[in-house]
Amino acid sequence: MPNSQDIPAAESVEELKLVAISALENSSTSEELEVWRVDFIGRKGKLTSLLRGLGSLAVDDRRVVGAAANRLRGELEGLFEKRIAVVNSSSAPLGSIDVTLPGRKPASGGLHPSTQMIREITQAFNEMGFQTVEGPEVELERYNFDMLNIPQNHPARDMFDTFWVDSEKDDLLLRTHTSPVQARVMEANDPPIRVVVPGKCYRYEATDATHEWQFNQIEGLAVDEGITFADLKGTLYEFARRIFGPSQKVRFRCDFFPFVEPGVDMSIEWKGNWLEIMGAGMVHPKVLENAGYDSDKYTGFAFGMGPERISMLKNEITDIRHFFSNDLRFLSQF
Ligand code: PHE
Repeated sequence: MPNSQDIPAAESVEELKLVAISALENSSTSEELEVWRVDFIGRKGKLTSLLRGLGSLAVDDRRVVGAAANRLRGELEGLFEKRIAVVNSSSAPLGSIDVTLPGRKPASGGLHPSTQMIREITQAFNEMGFQTVEGPEVELERYNFDMLNIPQNHPARDMFDTFWVDSEKDDLLLRTHTSPVQARVMEANDPPIRVVVPGKCYRYEATDATHEWQFNQIEGLAVDEGITFADLKGTLYEFARRIFGPSQKVRFRCDFFPFVEPGVDMSIEWKGNWLEIMGAGMVHPKVLENAGYDSDKYTGFAFGMGPERISMLKNEITDIRHFFSNDLRFLSQF
């Protein structure tokens, strides 16, 4: 009986394939790979001798086995190239571990710089008795504007360049600030209220180094009997000291927002300049009444700030667009 080395058959092509692949996997230096090449796909190699033996087969068998053997050649040549590339790219012998190398820290992710700043700020308020709550980013016109004393056709709506959402009643928008959550919280709860509200806001405006069409805000609201402007100042002063340091100076100036009266902006002294970091004020009586509160009994204060802007000050970031461009060279510095 002739053995399979003399007379090739379909099975011997399969057999050769298995042997060749396992030998290739065990070759881990360029020298070993060269030996493999000569042995399996070289001019006098195993595959060539298998092809040579085809002559002794019946015509039909020859066609089948010949085609299989040629396919195998293509396959083995491809695998060989890949293996060479792998071996050349690693200096240590494959399959071995260089135990003399120093340990390396595995790569790990981190919190987004906006998230880090939001947590720092909300924590400062949490420690002063404010609870963190959230509200929807796709908001009803009613909460974003009407409940906040900004009726339809009021010129103050122009302060907010609004992204409107296609909807049946045309009353849906991407919230332009976190203030609508003031109205939502008051509607659903009775005083006393002390909340901070972090979240994304959107404005349809041109972007530049200090303006983005998407950004975060942190809203604050305190409502109770007997809350005064002194409480507003004391709370925000304390916030500034917790975030910027114990000797931080702050300044309040008059400003206008339809949902507060009186309204102010707060600036901090930063490298010799006064920089505005938030809007604030005493909650407008109309806003309290819109939520069903008795404005003779209850008073409150509210404020809103942009955590990206505060992070820009603290971390000397010159362009707000870095926060949302997903560039690891920026993100990995935090
Ligand atoms: N919502 C205002 C803004 O986006 C900020 C603000 C909040 C002002 C609360 C006063 C009170 O500009």
